Amino acid sequence: MKEKIERVLTEVEEFRIEDKEQLEQFRLKFLIKKSELNELFTELRNVPAEDKRMVGAELNNLKNTAQNKFKEASEAIENNTDNVTADIPDLTLPVIPNELGTRHPLTLVRERIIEIFSRMGFNLSDGPEIEDDWHNFTALNFPENHPAREMQDTFFLEKNPDIALRTHTSSIQIRVMGKKKPPIRTLAPGRVFRNEAISARAHCVFHQIEGFYIDEKVSFADLKQTLYHFAKELFGEDTKIRFRPSFFPFTEPSAEIDISCLLCKGKGCTVCKHSGWVEIGGSGMIDPNVMENCGIDSRKYSGFAFGMGVERITMLKYQIKDLRLFTENDVRFLKQFRHVM
Ligand code: PHE
Repeated sequence: MKEKIERVLTEVEEFRIEDKEQLEQFRLKFLIKKSELNELFTELRNVPAEDKRMVGAELNNLKNTAQNKFKEASEAIENNTDNVTADIPDLTLPVIPNELGTRHPLTLVRERIIEIFSRMGFNLSDGPEIEDDWHNFTALNFPENHPAREMQDTFFLEKNPDIALRTHTSSIQIRVMGKKKPPIRTLAPGRVFRNEAISARAHCVFHQIEGFYIDEKVSFADLKQTLYHFAKELFGEDTKIRFRPSFFPFTEPSAEIDISCLLCKGKGCTVCKHSGWVEIGGSGMIDPNVMENCGIDSRKYSGFAFGMGVERITMLKYQIKDLRLFTENDVRFLKQFRHVM
């Protein structure tokens, strides 16, 4: 009996408990009712009376040793920091790349246009998207009830038809001329609104860039040379520019700005409808009435103005066939402009 106790004691002492599984095996072997250790207590019956006390004490000592070892080992495993690190993923694995967003093509083109004109001394101006009749029409020399107002299908405020969403950035001409004195040389990009059905070629919300220059002796030659330089910078050295007579209430004379078709280089294709030319905006010499409406002396000063469609220019530059792509925000479309310009 004594030998048995000693053997079990050595077994208890030598048992290695390093993880939860070994801890459980230890418990099954030494601590449950049917364990070898517990069986020894039943055998105590057979021990001669005079030895019972001593053997009993040894058995209790064995049991305490086993219980203490179990307690200590389970505490050690609970607190073991090695086990905590098991939950942390392998930090040496390569990371999943975090893709950067891209700038919208309209933003890229707008920024590029601003850059080109800023090098010619144009600064930036802006104005509100919700405008009154004066800034959007009347001060721009649109006579009351004149059909010219219908050139642009306007979103009016139902309760107050004097208020509308601006139909063009030309309203910013009035805003700036009312505040500043010539020389003025400024660029005004902005969102404009027209009551048009959405299609591949038209939208009710789009972007324009207005530009105008007022000083003494500004001439039509200045307008032409400024836009010629701009077109070459934006579209390339061999781009040609053409001014086609037109009408706007706020410019006189007025001209539509055409550039040679980028696709066929002027030979004629479907994009330019076989004319060799594509339109990018309107322009002209600021009508003296407009200057007078804003308190600028039209005998002393003259100026030119132009307004260009940002969507139109972007579509031409990147051969985009459908205007709706700009607002759908499909990443497969947007991502393609990551490396341009
Ligand atoms: N505002 C005109 C339009 O939206 C364009 C334009 C601007 C024409 C400036 C002449 C001068 O069509």
